[in-house]
Amino acid sequence: MVKLTFIGHATWAVEGNNLKGIIDPFFDGNPQAAFKKDDFLDVNYIFLTHGHGDHIGDTIYIAKKSGATVIACFELTLYLDKFGVNTHKMHVGGRYKFPFGKVKLTPALHGNSIVDENGNIIYGGMPYGFVIEVDGKKVYHAGDTGLTMDMALLERENIDVALLPIGGNFTMDIEDALRAVELIKPKLAIPMHYNTWPVIKADPLKFVEGCKKLGVESLVVNPGESIEI
Ligand code: NI
Ligand code: MN
Repeated sequence: MVKLTFIGHATWAVEGNNLKGIIDPFFDGNPQAAFKKDDFLDVNYIFLTHGHGDHIGDTIYIAKKSGATVIACFELTLYLDKFGVNTHKMHVGGRYKFPFGKVKLTPALHGNSIVDENGNIIYGGMPYGFVIEVDGKKVYHAGDTGLTMDMALLERENIDVALLPIGGNFTMDIEDALRAVELIKPKLAIPMHYNTWPVIKADPLKFVEGCKKLGVESLVVNPGESIEI
């Protein structure tokens, strides 16, 4: 049994056998955050899709306090290593077997940089999403991404749950997210990365309706809500 809890924006808690994880832990400054960063100091893994502030968020704080291992691309881990954070270095297209299951980094069409405390922009490598296998289930967190044909490769992964951005402007909008659903063919599609700010305003029910027309199950998970699969 895998438990997914939506924190808000693109932040998810994922729990299963040997895994108490959090994806893109953005709490401070997240208008949607349904929990506080201090509620997640018992995590053992942090999954980081890219260095933008609304994703790297409170990664360093939570990683240092919890001792959790941050799974991220090589360039992001070089930055995190300076803070004494435990990291596991991976890169796009790579797969690795962790004690809870396999993790694969999937291509994302986006940027990846960190703005440090002096306002300097640090190169973060390529952005990506995650396919996380735990308890026999596969969860795909797309990260921030535009629609890409690479998503067609995910069909063979037999994704159980796809967490997809729908807010537009920085990522796929609903129209493109539905095309992504057509390519990926997940068992369940859940929208994220919308309504956090006016620039990414979107009606998630329109996405759910569109999924129904494609014959794919979909539901809106509100910040603070959990689902079990
Ligand atoms: Ni981003
Ligand atoms: Mn974002």
